[in-house]
Amino acid sequence: MSVRPHAGNGKVTVPDIVSRKSRLLSQLPENRITCVTAYDYPTARLLDQTGVDILLVGDSLGMVVLGYDSTLPVTLDDMIHHTRAVSRGTRRALIVTDMPYGSFHVSLEESVRNAVRLVKEGGAEAVKVEGGERRIELIARLVQAEIPVMGHVGLTPQSLNALGGFQVQGKTTDAARQVERDARAVEAAGAFAVVLESMPRELAARITEQLPIPTIGIGAGPDCDGQVLVFHDLVGYATEHKPKFVRAYADLSTEISRAAAKYCEDVRSGRFPSDAECYHSATEARERLSARQPTESR
Ligand code: KIV
Repeated sequence: MSVRPHAGNGKVTVPDIVSRKSRLLSQLPENRITCVTAYDYPTARLLDQTGVDILLVGDSLGMVVLGYDSTLPVTLDDMIHHTRAVSRGTRRALIVTDMPYGSFHVSLEESVRNAVRLVKEGGAEAVKVEGGERRIELIARLVQAEIPVMGHVGLTPQSLNALGGFQVQGKTTDAARQVERDARAVEAAGAFAVVLESMPRELAARITEQLPIPTIGIGAGPDCDGQVLVFHDLVGYATEHKPKFVRAYADLSTEISRAAAKYCEDVRSGRFPSDAECYHSATEARERLSARQPTESR
């Protein structure tokens, strides 16, 4: 049976991620944390082998994989299903799974039970919870239950209806103070790291300087302790809207469309499959078949 390597064997662990903060503070930028979303086995394998530190099974899967308009319809079972696949492809990276909308907006007992399912059934090594001050009790309970928690403040996509859209957060003085309070609250509650999403870089830099835990930015500028991108944005794969903060390192949409169009053309013209791509009968069987000799008469 193959098992994931343990701490000290190259495996990225929660304490390792936490320790990057002090190493970053001592000005070693190579300790910046890399995080990419992953939702399936082959992608997880590639990202893991490339050396990405954290694979986030984000509920963004609702939009980039399942075709919903928002993350709100994603279920706990969806997250377990995809975390399992990621888990099977991962040896080194830390696997963090989003708690989807509705899975922690219930009683604390039920929320903890839901997080436990992500760990036990999915193989998540930590969970991510959206929201700041409102999540203090929940984060503390999860940590008590030995489940490491990554916080997520600033733009929290699960608050889409309450916010009225996906907008940059913390732009006014009051709003910035609220985001700072949220970040401090999740740290005080026991989170080991916090995602800062869509906020002015100056605000993210101030939070990063204040917090003793690593900050992982998305649309929050370069001064965070790490960065996260949605995989499909990073490789230019079938995403319609490209936010300002996304840098696409490849153009998979064009490549996939080109390959699919060429395949259709070759099938229609008879160029696929070629003889080299066929199985062949043994010579004797071929001769018998062409002589129309029934097998029963052998
Ligand atoms: O769901 C997700 O992919 C996320 C990241 C964008 C941080 O929450």
